Amino acid sequence: MSSTDMPGFANHFATEAVAGALPQGRNSPQRPAFGLYAEQLSGTAFTAPRHENRRSWLYRLRPSAAHPPYRRYEGAPLFAPGTDDAPLPPNRLRWDPLAMPDAPTDFVDGLVTMMANRDPASLEGCAVHIYRANADMADRYFFDADGELLLIPEMGRLDIRTEMGRIEIGPGEVALIPRGVRFRVLLPDTRARGYVAENHGALFRLPELGPIGSNGLANPRDFLTPSAAYEDRDAPVQLIQKNLGSLWITDLDHSPLDVVAWHGNLAPCKYDLRLFNVMGTVSYDHPDPSIFTVLTSPSHAPGRANADFVIFPPRWMVAEDTFRPPWFHRNVMSEAMGLIHGAYDAKANGFAPGGLSLHNLMAGHGPDVASWEKATNAELAPHKIDGTMAFMVETCWPYRPTRFALDHAQPDYDSAWGGFPKAKLP
Ligand SMILES: [Fe+2]
Repeated sequence: MSSTDMPGFANHFATEAVAGALPQGRNSPQRPAFGLYAEQLSGTAFTAPRHENRRSWLYRLRPSAAHPPYRRYEGAPLFAPGTDDAPLPPNRLRWDPLAMPDAPTDFVDGLVTMMANRDPASLEGCAVHIYRANADMADRYFFDADGELLLIPEMGRLDIRTEMGRIEIGPGEVALIPRGVRFRVLLPDTRARGYVAENHGALFRLPELGPIGSNGLANPRDFLTPSAAYEDRDAPVQLIQKNLGSLWITDLDHSPLDVVAWHGNLAPCKYDLRLFNVMGTVSYDHPDPSIFTVLTSPSHAPGRANADFVIFPPRWMVAEDTFRPPWFHRNVMSEAMGLIHGAYDAKANGFAPGGLSLHNLMAGHGPDVASWEKATNAELAPHKIDGTMAFMVETCWPYRPTRFALDHAQPDYDSAWGGFPKAKLP
């Protein structure tokens, strides 16, 4: 935790990088200090219920409205491709980690959209992208008008300079950047790869805890929001946005990260997944994986997530007379899984860190043969699953893999479930 980070999830924060920049007692004074421009950034409709209402007030060197027209951006050829309406095979899919680019490629140009659902204009659904970068965004900035972005590093740290402050994360941590917030990504380790979950729907929030009580899972104080930090930079730069599923670019003569002070409850934050307070059985069976939900975006149907961000962290397995890995199942929800490091307990091989898998609605899946065999014959002593961190972006909207994803899937994933012996009736 940097000494200036502010703890809490979606708290009402107030921060200024220059003393006196933040207005007191009002949001939009006639003449803000230093000639700053006041601007409201809304993450929910003005009239959203109070407990869901998210917005911040930004005080900046220039209004973000000051820009020339956007034109189509032709870079990032694998990011946000057009949708393919061909009938989608119902097959389970898995991908090896994507190769790093040879040419210098920054965070935006190295994004690869693997799967998506819903039209972003419907304000529902989510997408899963993979980033592979080996160059800093030196003079380029990005924002996503289509949704908030959950950045999930798998290799290398990310130094994320946002309008509202600076966030550094590495593998095992995640960052959540609200819809519309400008940022650029620098690479302290010169190379970085990881995942991005893009949420078009209701904002991610902490899940209800029900009978668990008032503590547990991801604790609010472990989410850290940066204090205000700004770039006072007059130089030609480019600003790219993703808008309604396509990419657009414009030129600015200054950094858009010129917010000197801000206050409100819509802001980027980061979270260390290793701080997740894991719940699990201490008797028999294991609960549904919803017990591992870090963040959830609800749909309009109660209990049915537009997107859940779920992790499979290190934890003790103590269940008696229980098949301990994830059971075989078919799910009305659709599951995209990634692996940050280590091994996932339902797959003996073929699922490497940086890889990805997709089990869409009603696709039968579960442990592969080797994992089933091992778990079926294991002596059920207390056992710690350690040195691993897998995650899932589960959604009620079936994913459509992109053409690139379909063309690069492992050809033999179905064989993970080949060779199960038939049960023997008496
Ligand atoms: Fe599953």
